[in-house]
Amino acid sequence: MCGIIGYAGTKPVAPILLEGLERLEYRGYDSAGIALAAENTVVRTRAAGRLANLRAALEKSVAGPGANHSESLRQQTRGSSGGLAAPQAAGVGHTRWATHGAPTEQNAHPHQSNGGKYTLVHNGIIENYQALRTFLAKNGTECRTETDTEVIAQLLEFYDTGNPLETLRRVLPQLEGSYALAVLYYAQPGIIYAAKRKSPLLAAQSHHGTLLASDAAALLPLSRAHYRLEDGDLAVLTRHSIRFFDGEGQEQIKTPQVMSRHISAAEKKGYEHFMRKEMAEQPEAVRLTLEPLLRQGGPHLGSAEEALRGADRIDRVLFLGCGSAWHAGMCGCVVIEELAGVPAAAALASEFRSQVVTINQNTLVIVVSQSGETADTLMALRQAKAAGARTLGIINVEGSSIAEESGSVIFTRAGLEVAVATTKAYSAQLAAVYALAARLGQLRGTLGGGKMRAFLHALAALPGLLEETLAASEEEMLRWAEEIAPKEHAYFLGRNLDWAAALEGSLKLKEISYIHAEAYAAGELKHGTISLIEQGTPVVSVCMRPGVVAKTMSNNEEVRARGAAVYCLTNDPSVTARRRFLLPACHPLLGVSFAAVPLQLLAYHCARLRGCDIDKPRSLAKSVTVE
Ligand code: AGP
Repeated sequence: MCGIIGYAGTKPVAPILLEGLERLEYRGYDSAGIALAAENTVVRTRAAGRLANLRAALEKSVAGPGANHSESLRQQTRGSSGGLAAPQAAGVGHTRWATHGAPTEQNAHPHQSNGGKYTLVHNGIIENYQALRTFLAKNGTECRTETDTEVIAQLLEFYDTGNPLETLRRVLPQLEGSYALAVLYYAQPGIIYAAKRKSPLLAAQSHHGTLLASDAAALLPLSRAHYRLEDGDLAVLTRHSIRFFDGEGQEQIKTPQVMSRHISAAEKKGYEHFMRKEMAEQPEAVRLTLEPLLRQGGPHLGSAEEALRGADRIDRVLFLGCGSAWHAGMCGCVVIEELAGVPAAAALASEFRSQVVTINQNTLVIVVSQSGETADTLMALRQAKAAGARTLGIINVEGSSIAEESGSVIFTRAGLEVAVATTKAYSAQLAAVYALAARLGQLRGTLGGGKMRAFLHALAALPGLLEETLAASEEEMLRWAEEIAPKEHAYFLGRNLDWAAALEGSLKLKEISYIHAEAYAAGELKHGTISLIEQGTPVVSVCMRPGVVAKTMSNNEEVRARGAAVYCLTNDPSVTARRRFLLPACHPLLGVSFAAVPLQLLAYHCARLRGCDIDKPRSLAKSVTVE
């Protein structure tokens, strides 16, 4: 998803912007650009594709043949007279994940008004942009790009009062939809104006200037104290200060949030891909997540206990999430119903918003999100809160929008996850769900004694067994990948928890290898999709859930009889298949965590064999901040 960076200060601006954009690359993008304020003008450089193309464009725009590249970037910040950078300079940068308009240089941000007065970058969607384009055209201002964002720059110039803050306050109420904005005004080269509604925007101050960014990863190298803009906020950043204003122009005093740990620059540490490194970090992510939840024998949710107050009155649990987070919620439903005896459901956040769902103060809504910025999940959370539900977030990023707006939060401690395809954060989400379910069962009196001890013992052993599973399964998963990688279609089967595991395995495979993959509740395949099974069609079958394995084995036979090549993940030695990998024996509720690891490796090796961009798959973003 789009990334925003802004800097006002005394250091060379372009290198800071480019480094910030590199830290935002993991969000996913398909074009990029920066704008640098100079005397009475703002110079833009943009490029389709990766940041390397932007760097090349910057070199080309300022240096002659053979120039020293770093010197030419520094030249970017020198005034038109070629003198040293102004006592303070400013610039904004953007990585664009295309929503309206193809990923071309022309549609890349920053966008500039026709008269050059306003230049800006935007994250979000202006839903009434067509009507605004029509208004502008009727009043003599023709838009030059296919984007929704451009209308903001054109409107600012149309309504320009000479005071950008005042002009922003005139224009912003006309916009419908979401925005995080960083704006440069031609006559004020050292100042950045910012505005926020629904899309995240953070600010920070360092000894040499101030910074604006879409998320903490881009700010941390310069500062750990971050100001979070709230919906409706405006901000003015200069070399020396960050000032905040509300929609009425009243100045506000904000307290910065100090991030608990330095997210050091993401390095691959010898791994070929971030995804493979993050898979290896999974056991530690699970251990760190469980540690505070199982302290003193646990389970105890710390500040999140607030969400379980009056546990006997909780008559329904509803998980909300997208993608893998939704899969974690599906697992949570089974575990909570079994351990706590509360009816549970998992809704896709994007669907929940259009459903008439009866929830109230006795509904526990659990929002699951790695990034904490997924727009669909954030909007669903707000809807659930408005309906009176008690809300609990299972979130990986401190200070994220969903973490801030959830009634209480269990933080997964997976650390920075760079690869778009989640692995360690997903496994940490499962661990948090297990501990939550155990605590809810304990409070409701449905889990205790030997059953509780057995479950807690299984949780404590989980990190070590995941470590073993990772080491033991890679060779076999590479073998499976050599057979599956050439295929165009694959199917994943499972029942109950195994179905959730199949969904996650299917998503991993398709999102990084681009093989079409579908996951089916094993019993459902024969109601239609089995017609797609042909000779050699790969079918990955998850058989970890005691009590349903026998039936899934029958489904395996049904597809095998029609030519399928069956690949089975199980910890039941009696389960046979053409290709079978035997996982460790485990608690009957934890099989999903064990199945996740080989399925991640299978997807990873299929993608490697197919030469795909594993960490940054096409069209995908790490944090989907548009609805
Ligand atoms: C998972 O590999 C995908 N990248 C995607 O489905 C992701 O889980 C989904 O977009 C939700 O993201 P979140 O956890 O940050 O809310």
